[in-house]
Amino acid sequence: MALKKVMIVGASALQVPIIQKAKELGYEVGVVDFNPNAVGIKYADWFHNVSTIDANGVCKATEEFEASGITTVATDMPMRAIAYTCDKLGLIGISEETALNATDKARMIKKFEEFNVPHSRYSVVENKKIEEIKENIIYPCICKPVDNSGSRGVIIANNDSELHSGIEYSYENSRSGTVIVEELLIGREISVEAFAVNGSFYVIQITDKITTGAPHFVEMGHSQPSEAIATMYQEIYDITAKAMLAVGIQNGPAHVEMMLTESGPKLIEIGARLGGDFITTDLVPLSTGIDILAATIRLACGDKVDIEPKFNRASAIRYMKTGIGKIKSITGLEEASEINGVYRVSMQKNIGDMAEEICDSIDRVGYVIAQGESIEEASSICEKALKKIAVKVE
Ligand SMILES: Nc1ncnc2c1ncn2[C@@H]1O[C@H](COP(=O)(O)OP(=O)(O)O)[C@@H](O)[C@H]1O
Ligand SMILES: [Mg+2]
Repeated sequence: MALKKVMIVGASALQVPIIQKAKELGYEVGVVDFNPNAVGIKYADWFHNVSTIDANGVCKATEEFEASGITTVATDMPMRAIAYTCDKLGLIGISEETALNATDKARMIKKFEEFNVPHSRYSVVENKKIEEIKENIIYPCICKPVDNSGSRGVIIANNDSELHSGIEYSYENSRSGTVIVEELLIGREISVEAFAVNGSFYVIQITDKITTGAPHFVEMGHSQPSEAIATMYQEIYDITAKAMLAVGIQNGPAHVEMMLTESGPKLIEIGARLGGDFITTDLVPLSTGIDILAATIRLACGDKVDIEPKFNRASAIRYMKTGIGKIKSITGLEEASEINGVYRVSMQKNIGDMAEEICDSIDRVGYVIAQGESIEEASSICEKALKKIAVKVE
């Protein structure tokens, strides 16, 4: 019997784990990428050179490859091309409307409003027309492009002048020119990895987050399982399911970010996709034994999925903090990886690269992932490993 075929959208380092997973599951794997030298191509069976956001191109390639399903990991905008392809070819996935709801923060928050999902006060600013929203603003607030990710274009504003420059900064990082200004939610930030099968919602794991905080709120660490599970599981489950319903996720993964405020959980954003930052490729399998990548691939191809937890452990990732300048030397990587419980140590920048101030997720230099029996253990293993690593800059 011929192998079942799956199309993975994107072949960058971020997608290598899902390409490899699909191969391991026995699928024949096609990939599309704008970059003909993308690192993931060599792991796939078939490649077509087209941009991952070219909906028509991605759809045609998928049809030509005769894929039974199409999916990806850790990337937002290609979800629109995937949804278009699912609609056109009758494959299992999200609708185009859901893809828009989950990749445009203005549409998203309007859906939250409509479905009574708790969220922040907000104003939408089109083409920097700031005067129209001024009276609705309470400081501090946060400016964000409606259609970017990885904290690109995200900045706090504490007063009128910061609001002006903040909107400018978000505008420069937006595709459509639309910016959303939100009330700054105060509390503990978590994300929820969830999964829908035929309209039923499952929480796979809850993650505690560490960010750089103001001004840019870049994610610098994730730990699982969240400490909030003990006291707030039901509330978190309910708001997650409501948010998935609001944007229309019926089948497949969701990555839901929320703030646990004094007046309960409030939504920050939802992605109709697998979470990035190694949360779904590594942290979820390490803390639960659930192979969420496998489930995503199999569901997309109409095959049976297994999302039952296999064990209750803990996992954590911590990104490195370094000085600013050109990286001169990196030492201690081997020593760090030899520590008991360390799962991976990896650099995203190397000698000769610039270590910049961390303004978005691309600026991060490297990371450590660990597994432990408790969240305290996994986090402290990461910290111990980070202490061994010295990144010198000049
Ligand atoms: N309304 C808000 N209140 C407080 N913090 C926020 C708010 N919106 C965003 N943030 C912070 O900024 C980060 C990035 O914002 P997010 O909406 O998730 O954009 P992105 O798509 O870039 O991830 C969040 O993880 C969170 O730490
Ligand atoms: Mg986010």
